[in-house]
Amino acid sequence: MGKVILLAHQKGGVGKSNTATNLAVAIAKEQFNGETDRILLVDADPQATLYRWSQRREDNQNVNSFPCIRLDGNITSQIKIEAGKYGYVIIDAAGRDSREMRSAMLASDLMLIPTKASLADLELLEHMSETVETARDYNPDLTVSVFINMAPTNSQTEKTIAKQLLKEFPEFRLLNTVLSERKAHRDAFSEALGVHEWKDTKAKAEMSCLLKEICNEI
Ligand SMILES: Nc1ncnc2c1ncn2[C@@H]1O[C@H](COP(=O)(O)OP(=O)(O)OP(=O)(O)O)[C@@H](O)[C@H]1O
Ligand SMILES: [Mg+2]
Repeated sequence: MGKVILLAHQKGGVGKSNTATNLAVAIAKEQFNGETDRILLVDADPQATLYRWSQRREDNQNVNSFPCIRLDGNITSQIKIEAGKYGYVIIDAAGRDSREMRSAMLASDLMLIPTKASLADLELLEHMSETVETARDYNPDLTVSVFINMAPTNSQTEKTIAKQLLKEFPEFRLLNTVLSERKAHRDAFSEALGVHEWKDTKAKAEMSCLLKEICNEI
């Protein structure tokens, strides 16, 4: 069975779609020699950000495109079927509580929650905490990890603050990797690429760290 990674958060704009695209590219580069056909992208968000990225990527002759499907409603059984066919299934859910998010949690190995490190952002994890508790009744093996995204490059305090605040949520593991706010993410995304295919080595190094940490968990 392939590994199923779900990007989810009830808050919008935290970097779910951006992380989905970058993890896909990072896995292809680091585990499959650049081949993309063992990694399925699942867009479970009506905004279709991930799907449109993958469509734009198909127009670029210089890179391999990813298989990508759109799913809605209760997607648990479809995800399980797809996991039997691929090495990885990466799901991008909408930035709100949705049937897609909840049903995807029942078929996932890892739910990855990007968050900014501010108190206002971290407090919103409370909602996710309840959702995770319910999902674990049906999928006790679900690993849930939180990571800080869009951290300012000139400050190291984010992780310390977040670690402190996340002590209130023992059901979430805070990953050590912090993704900084870097223009490379927006630039690469607009070209339907990942930071592994871009010129900012720091952005790429952070994404590699995130992938390594994830792979140790699932
Ligand atoms: N580490 C980063 N550095 C710079 N920009 C980033 C980073 N991560 C995400 N972004 C940018 O932030 C914006 C929101 O990211 P993204 O679309 O991935 O969020 P989302 O959680 O999928 O949002 P939604 O809930 O609307 O689906 C995008 O413009 C994206 O390019
Ligand atoms: Mg999105």
